Amino acid sequence: MLPLFLFAAALFAQDYAGTEMCQGCHEDIAKAFLKSNPHAVLETNKRRGWETKSCEACHGSGVKHAESAEAALIRNPRKLSTAETDKTCMACHGNQQTHSGRVVTGHARQQMACTSCHSIHAKAPEPKSQCGSCHLGEKVSFAKPHAHPVPQGAMSCTDCHSPHGTVLSKALNTAIGNEPGCLRCHGDKRGPFTFEHAPVRLDGCGSCHEPHGSANPRMLTRPSVSQLCLECHAGTFTAGLGGVPPAFHDIRTARYRNCTTCHMKIHGSHVSKALLR
Ligand code: HEC
Ligand code: HEC
Ligand code: HEC
Ligand code: HEC
Ligand code: HEC
Ligand code: HEC
Ligand code: HEC
Ligand code: HEC
Ligand code: HEC
Ligand code: HEC
Repeated sequence: MLPLFLFAAALFAQDYAGTEMCQGCHEDIAKAFLKSNPHAVLETNKRRGWETKSCEACHGSGVKHAESAEAALIRNPRKLSTAETDKTCMACHGNQQTHSGRVVTGHARQQMACTSCHSIHAKAPEPKSQCGSCHLGEKVSFAKPHAHPVPQGAMSCTDCHSPHGTVLSKALNTAIGNEPGCLRCHGDKRGPFTFEHAPVRLDGCGSCHEPHGSANPRMLTRPSVSQLCLECHAGTFTAGLGGVPPAFHDIRTARYRNCTTCHMKIHGSHVSKALLR
C-alpha cells in the first residue's frame, strides 16, 4: 500500500505525459515549437502552470494518446467545434484588452474560430494578409484612385479594424477613449474645437469620406466639394441638417463653388465660427 501522498503524486504524474514524451513521436513539430513559437514560454515559465508540459495546454492530457498513438485520443483544436476551440484559446487570452469586443463582432457571430486566422504550427499566411480573401469587395476598393496605401503594404486593414471586434460597430479601432481610430493618424482633426463642424463630431468622418477608397479626390463621397457641401447646405438639395448658405453666396458663380478655398477649417476651427480660418 502506497502512502497517501505518494499515491496522489503518482496520480498527478499520470495526468500529463509531458512535452518530452510528445517530442519522441512528433519531433519536427516539437522542435519548431520550442524554438520559435510564442507559446514556448509556457514550457519554461513556472508561473503559468504548464512547465514541461506545454503541448497539453492546448491539446489536453495526452497520456492515453501517448500510449496508443491513436488520433482519436487527443484533442486537435482544428477539429473541434468553434465554441470548443475558442474556449481552449480564451482560457489564457480571454482577459486581453484586444478581445473585449469579441462577442459583438461578425466574426464570432459567423462561427469563425481563432484557428481560422491563427495557425499554431503550420506555416500559414499572416492573419493580417488573410482579410482580403473573404472581404473581396473591400480589398478591391483600395485600388481606386484615391485610397489609403493598403495594397502598397504601408497600412493594413487592422490599422482601422480589430479582427477580434471592438466596442464600436464595424469592429472599428478606437483612438483615445472611444474616439474614432482615424484620429490616431490624423490627430490634427481632433477636437474639441471652439467651433465644431457638426457632422465631423456627430456623424463621423464617414459622412464625407470613403475610408476604403474613392474615385474622388480626398476620398470624398462626392465628385466635387461643393456638391458635398450643398447636399446639406442648400434647401434645393435633398434634406440635410445644415442651414442654407447666406444669400451673398451666389453658387452659380465659379468663385463661390469652391467652398473650401474660404471655409478652410472644414474639420473645425478655434477662431472662426464660419470655419474660415
Ligand atoms: C508513441 C508516439 C506518439 C506519442 C508519444 C504522441 N503522439 Fe501524437 N500522434 C502520434 C501518431 C502516430 C499520430 C497520427 C495518428 C493518425 O493520423 O492516425 C498522432 C497524432 C497527433 C495529433 C493529431 C490528432 C488528430 O486528430 O489529427 C495530435 C494533436 C497529437 N498527436 C498530439 C500529441 C501530443 C500533444 C503528444 C504528447 C502529449 C503526443 N501527440 C504524443 C504518435 C504519438
Ligand atoms: C497554443 C496551443 C497549442 C500548443 C501549445 C500546441 N499545439 Fe499542437 N496544435 C494546435 C492547433 C490549433 C493545431 C491545429 C493545426 C494548427 O493550427 O497548426 C495543432 C495541431 C497539432 C498536431 C496535428 C498536426 C496537424 O497538422 O494537424 C500535432 C501533432 C500537434 N499539434 C502537436 C503538438 C505538440 C507536440 C506540441 C508541443 C510541443 C503542441 N502541439 C503544442 C495548438 C497547440
Ligand atoms: C496556456 C495558456 C495559453 C493558451 C491555452 C493559448 N495561448 Fe496563445 N499565448 C499564450 C502566451 C503565454 C503567449 C505569449 C505571449 C504573451 O506573453 O502574452 C501567447 C501568444 C499567442 C499569440 C501571439 C501573440 C503575439 O504577440 O505574437 C497568438 C496569436 C496566440 N497566442 C493565439 C492563441 C490561439 C489561437 C490559441 C488557441 C488555439 C492560444 N493562443 C492558446 C498563452 C496561451
Ligand atoms: C474566413 C473569412 C473571413 C476572413 C479571413 C476575415 N473575415 Fe471579416 N468577416 C467575415 C464574415 C463572415 C463576417 C460577418 C459578415 C456578416 O455578419 O454579415 C465578417 C465581418 C467583418 C467586419 C464587419 C464588422 C463586424 O464585426 O461584423 C469587419 C470590419 C471585418 N470582417 C474585418 C476583417 C478583417 C480586418 C480581417 C482580417 C484580419 C477579416 N475580416 C478576415 C469573414 C472573414
Ligand atoms: C479574422 C481573423 C482573426 C480571428 C478570427 C482571430 N484573430 Fe487574433 N489576430 C488576428 C490579426 C490580424 C492579429 C494581428 C493584429 C494586429 O497586428 O493589429 C491578431 C492578433 C492576435 C493576438 C496578439 C495580441 C493582440 O491581441 O493583438 C492574439 C493573442 C490573438 N490574436 C488571439 C486570438 C484568439 C484567442 C482568437 C479567438 C478568440 C483570435 N485571435 C481570433 C486575426 C484574427
Ligand atoms: C482607413 C481606415 C480603414 C481601413 C484601412 C479599412 N477599413 Fe474597413 N471600414 C472602415 C470604416 C470607417 C468602416 C465603417 C463604414 C461605415 O460605417 O459606413 C469600415 C467598414 C468595413 C466593413 C463593414 C462593411 C459593411 O458594409 O458593413 C468591412 C467588412 C470592412 N470595413 C473590411 C475591411 C477590410 C477587409 C479592410 C482591408 C482590406 C479594411 N476594411 C480596411 C475603415 C477602414
Ligand atoms: C494608420 C494610420 C491611418 C489611419 C488609422 C487612418 N489614416 Fe487616413 N491616411 C493615412 C495616410 C498615411 C494617408 C496618406 C495617403 C497618401 O498620401 O497616399 C492618409 C490619407 C487620408 C486622407 C486624404 C487623402 C488625400 O487624397 O489627401 C483622408 C481623407 C483620410 N486619410 C481619411 C481617413 C479616415 C476617415 C480614417 C478613419 C476611418 C483614416 N483616414 C484613418 C493614414 C491613416
Ligand atoms: C463635412 C464633411 C467632412 C467631414 C465630416 C470630415 N471631412 Fe475630412 N475633408 C473634407 C473635405 C471637403 C476635405 C477636402 C478639403 C479640400 O480639398 O480643400 C477633407 C480633407 C481631409 C483630409 C486631407 C486634407 C487634410 O486636411 O489633411 C484628411 C486627412 C481628412 N479630411 C480627414 C478627416 C477625418 C479624420 C475626419 C473625421 C475626424 C474627417 N476628415 C471628417 C470634409 C470632411
Ligand atoms: C452631412 C451634412 C453636412 C455636410 C456634408 C457639410 N455640412 Fe456644414 N454643417 C452641417 C451642420 C449640421 C452644421 C451646423 C448646423 C448649422 O449651423 O446650420 C454645419 C455648419 C457649417 C458651417 C457653420 C455655420 C454656422 O452657422 O456656424 C459652415 C461654414 C459649413 N457648415 C460649411 C460647410 C462646407 C463648406 C461644407 C463642404 C465642405 C459642409 N459644410 C459640409 C452639415 C453639413
Ligand atoms: C469667397 C469665399 C467663400 C466661399 C467660396 C464660400 N463661402 Fe461660405 N461664407 C463665406 C463668408 C465670408 C461667410 C460669412 C461668415 C460670417 O458671416 O461670419 C460664409 C458663411 C457661410 C455659411 C453660414 C455661416 C453662418 O454664419 O450662417 C455657410 C453654411 C456657408 N458659408 C457655406 C458655404 C458653402 C456650402 C460654400 C460652397 C458652395 C461656401 N460657403 C463658399 C465665404 C465663402
